[in-house]
Amino acid sequence: MSEVKGKINRNLALELLRVTEAGALAAAPLQGRGNKEAADLRAVEAIREALADVDMKGTVVIGEGEKDKAPMLYFGEQIGNGLEPAVDVAVDPIEGTSLTASGLPGAISVVALAERGSMFTTHVPYMLKLVVGRRARGVIDLDMPVEWNLLRIAGAEGLPVQELTVVVLERERNREIIAQIRDVGARIKLITAGDVAGALEATLEMRSGVHCMMGSGGATEGVLAACAIKTIGGDMQARLFFRDEAEKDVAVKEGHKPNQVLCLDDLCSGTDIFFAATGITSGELLKGVRYEDVYAYTQSMVLRSTSGTMRIVDAYHPIDNLRAKGLLPEQVAVR
Ligand code: FBP
Repeated sequence: MSEVKGKINRNLALELLRVTEAGALAAAPLQGRGNKEAADLRAVEAIREALADVDMKGTVVIGEGEKDKAPMLYFGEQIGNGLEPAVDVAVDPIEGTSLTASGLPGAISVVALAERGSMFTTHVPYMLKLVVGRRARGVIDLDMPVEWNLLRIAGAEGLPVQELTVVVLERERNREIIAQIRDVGARIKLITAGDVAGALEATLEMRSGVHCMMGSGGATEGVLAACAIKTIGGDMQARLFFRDEAEKDVAVKEGHKPNQVLCLDDLCSGTDIFFAATGITSGELLKGVRYEDVYAYTQSMVLRSTSGTMRIVDAYHPIDNLRAKGLLPEQVAVR
């Protein structure tokens, strides 16, 4: 992570909102059509076009394409219209491509911005994560066992550990963590994808009934979640997760300490952070895109760290306008 430069003197939140709305509206026609690449491609193109209009000198510092061989917004890509401020951008046009392709709950389109040089960046695909809400801020330690953390979180929440609910991405690599949570007796919500939404659920307990997220997921998703958590006021720790020695070498070459526990400020040291997410398919966090009469409906979350404001924005987009912009084609070929 290089030195943080400059301040962002404008509220980019609503501009970002338009970006994730475009991503979600572009992906939505392909809900349940069984083709995640086609949905991703449409969302990437819509997000790239919408970002081009934002008044900023943006650099993508962490994105998704490489892990999924997706039509990425690539690392180092310059986006925005080239005007100040200079910002780091983390982006995932569809967070939950498989959810979108199957029409399952919880897919979102998501973007975060912060001052240039403030976001953690890596080509290592995965990260181990531990996320909690504001009441449990400061009580977690990723170097300590699962049981130790759950007991501390339960104490901070004022709940018996059996009443905690922990979100975990259901993956073979998280099997041991799931077993340990079960041994302690906490409740588990397994998700098949979408751990940015999972992390936000853990941070926004009042909206979700979830207290914690544990386990490894995408590194990009980790940075995106950290940007949101910093503005909302929960806590997060992470550590790069290596599937082999080659991935560890990548981290070392990038200048990272492979086993370092990354705190929120390591993941995003910025103080002027913007985050926007729009639902593609309906989930606990956000409603998905719906077509109603002459409108397409979207629901989004927009966060700004300097004010601490969280906006939940319902929007109705005239379907004729979407058709004119190519966001709602008459026919979408997916084969
Ligand atoms: P994409 O839909 O953007 O590919 O990510 C979905 C996701 O489930 C993330 O939420 C999660 O962090 C990551 O993939 C986990 O990766 P993998 O599916 O390879 O275990």
